Amino acid sequence: MENRNKNKVFLDINNKKIDLPVLSGSTGPDVVDIRSFYKISNLFTFDPGFTSTASCESSITFIDGDKGKLLYRGFDIGELAVKSTFLEVCFLLLYGKLPQKNQLDDFTQRVTRHTMLHEQMIYFFRGFRRDAHPMAIICGVQGAMSSFYHDSLDINDPWQREVASIRMIAKLPTIVAYAYKYSTGQPFVYPNNSLDYAENFLYMCFSVPAEQYKSNPILNKAMDRIFILHADHEQNASTSTVRLAGSSGANPFACIAAGIACLWGPAHGGANEACLNMLKEIGSVDRIPDFIKRAKDKNDPFRLMGFGHRVYKNFDPRAKVMKESADEVLELLGISNNRTLQVAKELEKIALEDEYFIEKKLYPNVDFYSGIILEAMGFPTSMFTPIFALARTVGWISHWIEMHSDPDKKIGRPRQLYKGNLERPFVLIKDR
Ligand code: CMC
Repeated sequence: MENRNKNKVFLDINNKKIDLPVLSGSTGPDVVDIRSFYKISNLFTFDPGFTSTASCESSITFIDGDKGKLLYRGFDIGELAVKSTFLEVCFLLLYGKLPQKNQLDDFTQRVTRHTMLHEQMIYFFRGFRRDAHPMAIICGVQGAMSSFYHDSLDINDPWQREVASIRMIAKLPTIVAYAYKYSTGQPFVYPNNSLDYAENFLYMCFSVPAEQYKSNPILNKAMDRIFILHADHEQNASTSTVRLAGSSGANPFACIAAGIACLWGPAHGGANEACLNMLKEIGSVDRIPDFIKRAKDKNDPFRLMGFGHRVYKNFDPRAKVMKESADEVLELLGISNNRTLQVAKELEKIALEDEYFIEKKLYPNVDFYSGIILEAMGFPTSMFTPIFALARTVGWISHWIEMHSDPDKKIGRPRQLYKGNLERPFVLIKDR
């Protein structure tokens, strides 16, 4: 049925010969261009989880799942995590190149000048129930931003797109910190623009007006590194959601709210919260075999949270850096014998030697160790996914800008395999 030369694949459908172009990227698998497929064959393709479908062209992030490689604009994530800073990575993702010193200073200054929220936005926080999940608050407040900044809503104007982007990168830490403060009943702490990005976030979360606060530089660095590791991950579910929402020309702030909603799910960003809860539920090393057994049982919906990935069939490179950071942070805080970390390390060891996990190529992902660090820093589990959202905002925005900069952009509109009723007559309620 299928044949292939370098630039084309040939299909024979009901004795009709069809050839489809094959496109090559700079690296990674080639793609079969099926844009004309329906027109020439009267058939759709079927790929519900996008397991074989490239949804767009992109130059931002590359993952080699077999080698466990992740590159932002060509730079290795492990190197960026150690040598760069989050704001430098933001510049890189947004503009495609590493900044010169003056460019980074200027970018930092622009982000820093936008850290405050419009004062009326405080009322939105107050409208939420005290026990609301911070992701619900963040999603709502992010959506509400779409009604506050009317001077940066023209998506066809590159300058306005940039202003909206800078605003979101600057304000997300403030929104996330306020959601946390609201849940604790403490007063909101305004941003302090003399602090750097990660330090300012910790300051807004953990300081109170009654006391002096100084965060530990090692924790600032660990926070910054967590932001870098989560900044982008090519066409994952939330990024694809942002692209799809944006493809209709929707308000930029609302598009990012859509990304936040998608990230919340436990199969995606919500896994870090679910993972720590799972490690706590396991509780001690001797209970690990029971949980491994459950994860392997087809009749049990339980999965090892923080394990497995659609693309990585080798170690998630972010998990490696995260594991080192966890050791560093716990050592600094004098809790390196932390029980949850012991359970995590033992669970990882046992799972990596288990036939089921080996055969299915299930390795720890980014969420496996991040929760341990965040908990040690003092964050409750409900704050883990909001912190992921804060960091991923720059990735979502970079993809949103890339999409709008493409002259061939099209509204995203998938097809379907319809399995419902054929047309049938309506029966009045009295006759049913
Ligand atoms: N524990 C036990 N079995 C698993 C796991 C796991 N964590 N993950 C996958 N499997 C099994 C699954 O049951 C299936 O088995 P079979 O072929 O016998 O039916 C096989 O491995 C393939 O799984 P899949 O669900 O078809 O794979 P996927 O690519 O659709 O899902 C995933 C990827 C990340 C949703 C999945 O591995 C998972 O649910 N992991 C746990 C949640 C998690 O840690 N998510 C965070 C992902 S990384 C950060 C992010 O994306 O936000």
